[in-house]
Amino acid sequence: MVFDSGIGGLGILCEIEKILPNESFVYVADFANAPYGNKTKTEIKEIVLKTLKKYVKKFKPKYLVIACNTATAVCINMVRKIFLKTCVVGCEPAVRLAIKNRKKRILVLCTSATKKYSSYLKKFSDIKVFSPKKLATLVDQNFLKKDEVKKYLEKSLKKFSKKFDAVILGCTHYSLLKNEIEKILKAKSFDGNIGVAKYVESKIEKSIKKKGKTKLISTLKKKKKFLELCYKKIKGEKICVE
Ligand code: DGL
Repeated sequence: MVFDSGIGGLGILCEIEKILPNESFVYVADFANAPYGNKTKTEIKEIVLKTLKKYVKKFKPKYLVIACNTATAVCINMVRKIFLKTCVVGCEPAVRLAIKNRKKRILVLCTSATKKYSSYLKKFSDIKVFSPKKLATLVDQNFLKKDEVKKYLEKSLKKFSKKFDAVILGCTHYSLLKNEIEKILKAKSFDGNIGVAKYVESKIEKSIKKKGKTKLISTLKKKKKFLELCYKKIKGEKICVE
């Protein structure tokens, strides 16, 4: 099972599907409670737990990928303690990957909650962390027609243009805007999507089936079609949403 507050985690799902085409997946987009990034720690914990309890009970996944930097920062330990029978994988902003690529002036874009609560980010002293407050919501509303999103990106990120040599897409929603963000900042972007997919591959007992299936679930009925269309756009394939 792959889980996020909205469409952001589809980027991770598609990377995992590429590496593990025979496995079957359930993707849960918690639109009913999005965005997570502007909420308090207690609110995020409550929401994540309630949503996961419902779908873990229903699908009994062996592996649970928290394809959300915010939920990982706030409650990955709690999720691991509660779902003891499930292998829980989280995602962190890819700062180490940028450092490995010898990047020095590093800008991390993430939600306010990730900025506040990520113990991983606190390990790095010489990075700039910025939270474009409305960005995840705009992506969940306008990913199919990006004019609004582009305007907001231009307005909020212009001040950082040419000032950094790496930008970390520390929210899975932002990874879906990789090209647009790189263009404004004139910096190379890094995210954890492929890293998470490879980690899942290293953990998983591979299935012997010929081809896996993916089921998309929206916790908000009116966003089902949107989720289906976003998946199709990212992946280039149409599937039904439950
Ligand atoms: N996609 C999520 C993340 O990676 C959260 C976005 C939100 O709901 O604020 O942080």
